Amino acid sequence: MGNLSVSDVGVEQFNKDHQRLLFYVQEFTRLCSRFRLRTPFPDEWDQVDAIFSRLEKYTSSHFKEEELALAKIDYPTLAKHLEQHQLLVNMLAELKIKVKNREFQAIGAVKMFLMEWITNHINHVDTQYKPFMTSKPS
Ligand SMILES: [Fe+2]
Ligand SMILES: [Fe+2]
Repeated sequence: MGNLSVSDVGVEQFNKDHQRLLFYVQEFTRLCSRFRLRTPFPDEWDQVDAIFSRLEKYTSSHFKEEELALAKIDYPTLAKHLEQHQLLVNMLAELKIKVKNREFQAIGAVKMFLMEWITNHINHVDTQYKPFMTSKPS
């Protein structure tokens, strides 16, 4: 696996979070890519369940940390940022149902969107807080 390149957001911990988040999405994507070609084997479902639950938990803990940090500095577009996070949380909730129901074709169709969404969020939404975070160290 190569490096997952996304923009620096000015907070070391969040840069690390983003790397890990992208790693989970990449693993999920890689695993689900096979399901376009054939039905998953039972042990593959165990892997999908495991990586998906990690992705879901890690996303919500990262979002919480980020939202707290932004609230602390009275980030001017916090409400918009929260909305963006909520969109992904909703997407993951829908995906969770598909995983639970073993709808492998639907999962295969969604996976690319996830990677794109998260990369885009980091590069274009999270990077907007960079000047605020770096100019106000705690
Ligand atoms: Fe983030
Ligand atoms: Fe964010």
